Amino acid sequence: MPGFSQANELPAWKSLMDHHDKLGRGMVLKAEFEKDPERFQKFSRTFKNDAEGSEILFDFSKNFLTEDTLPLLVKLAKEANVEQLRDDMFKGEKINFTEDRAVYHVALRNTKNDPMQVDGKSVVEEVNGVLEHMKEFSEQIRSGEWKGYSGKPIDTIINIGIGGSDLGPVMVSEALKPYGKEGMKLHFVSNIDGTHIAEALKDSNPETTLFLIASKTFTTAETTTNANTAKKWFLEKAPDEKAIAKHFVALSTNEKEVEKFGIDTKNMFGFADWVGGRYSVWSAIGLSVCLYIGYENFHQFLAGANAMDRHFRETPLEQNIPVLGGLLSVWYSDFFGAQTHLVAPFDQYMHRFPAYLQQLSMESNGKAITRSGDYVKYTTGPILFGEPATNAQHSFFQLLHQGTKLIPADFIMAAESHNPVEGNLHQRMLASNFFAQSEALMIGKTPDTVKAEGAPEGLVPHKVFLGNRPTTSILAQKITPSTLGALIAYYEHLTFTEGAIWNINSFDQWGVELGKVLAKNIGKELDQSGKVDGHDSSTNGLINAFKQRSGGA
Ligand code: F6P
Repeated sequence: MPGFSQANELPAWKSLMDHHDKLGRGMVLKAEFEKDPERFQKFSRTFKNDAEGSEILFDFSKNFLTEDTLPLLVKLAKEANVEQLRDDMFKGEKINFTEDRAVYHVALRNTKNDPMQVDGKSVVEEVNGVLEHMKEFSEQIRSGEWKGYSGKPIDTIINIGIGGSDLGPVMVSEALKPYGKEGMKLHFVSNIDGTHIAEALKDSNPETTLFLIASKTFTTAETTTNANTAKKWFLEKAPDEKAIAKHFVALSTNEKEVEKFGIDTKNMFGFADWVGGRYSVWSAIGLSVCLYIGYENFHQFLAGANAMDRHFRETPLEQNIPVLGGLLSVWYSDFFGAQTHLVAPFDQYMHRFPAYLQQLSMESNGKAITRSGDYVKYTTGPILFGEPATNAQHSFFQLLHQGTKLIPADFIMAAESHNPVEGNLHQRMLASNFFAQSEALMIGKTPDTVKAEGAPEGLVPHKVFLGNRPTTSILAQKITPSTLGALIAYYEHLTFTEGAIWNINSFDQWGVELGKVLAKNIGKELDQSGKVDGHDSSTNGLINAFKQRSGGA
């Protein structure tokens, strides 16, 4: 336990309250830039990714920060023992105390083979053993050496999983499409809605399809149901059950359930219970990514994350990029009352990045109980949302510019495009929007400017932009596997920092259990005929209406 219960009782929190009172919404970002020509240098940080020799620029200068804010935020991180918790994580301590587990996804990307242990036992050999298996297997599939039951090579991968067993693999394989194997079709089936599996199967040939059943527990209802449907479809075409060995592999921690399903454990890629679902793309759960982009690229993906891990572990807090990101989030949530956080990648390949971050952030920090068991006296995890820009500009950015809510935003872009079409014209237009949005959000537009532009008197208030909206701009060189790995690890450690300060356990997810239990019970009621009456009148009414309209089981 960290030696405090409520973060708002820490001395630095109180100092930040006073600082906020002085600064408050009275801080005008535009004026801060006019006052201090060094502001960009002072508040931006460069991450050096030694895994590939590239850099990522994090510009925090368009945030509500002064030279007094940063030391106070850093003091808060110190008083909240962020460093201690971080070191405990890297030591393999069981910081996920409600599940009595270590939080050790960092050991999955230990590309420098540093000693790493849980319960006094090295985990390096086991992690490397699974990676070796992934390497061999991906080479066999990609080269065509691995044949389906009728002797044809595999050309379609269907990953069946949900939550962390889906969002990471789908996001990363989309983001790294330029590295994907040509001709290899990838499907990700997560939803229990039969449409999801039906659409994937419609498009696939059982002779050349490989199913990856991705589930840490191998008991998740959506995944096992979809997997059984896939197996049934497959066996309708395949000559016999022996063919399963060529077409189904399991990515899981649960050998017993994998065997029960009918997958030979030789075709199982395992990982340990210290890998949380939302942190599992680095584990065997990432096999679809590895098959698609090849082992070397997958290794680079791990190495980029490892570079960010070392930065997080070794850099003093004032310079520590994910710590600063986390502190800013706390600053906005708890001192400015921001309820949301926008992440907008200016990168079409990264279109699933916000969805991925939603699970990372909201499943981690959507909690209200401190590590000592009390209800928090402040707000915790923000509502994270996002879409790729520039599309988002033409839909919801209106609310950012002229709405009543404060929405801190991260904009992410790479200088180099994978598709520099039209002499890079598209990339320059994309970049001009990337720069223009953060500038517009900050500087706004005054009534005088609107009038000077000739707007009729009655329209002036409608055309005014108050400005002073904070943003963080993240500029990478190119979205390579290594850079993407580093960016994900940045958000992981940012989320870690937030949770450490709020003094909540960012690593369990009890909040998803109740719905699962109720759905299971209602599922049984749907299997039976007749009306139900055991719920509230709304739930009874809805269930009975469904029964009447759906034609029964
Ligand atoms: O229900 C939430 C959750 O447990 C997530 O945390 C997890 O990523 C997802 O379900 C899938 O779990 P599994 O990989 O065990 O199927």
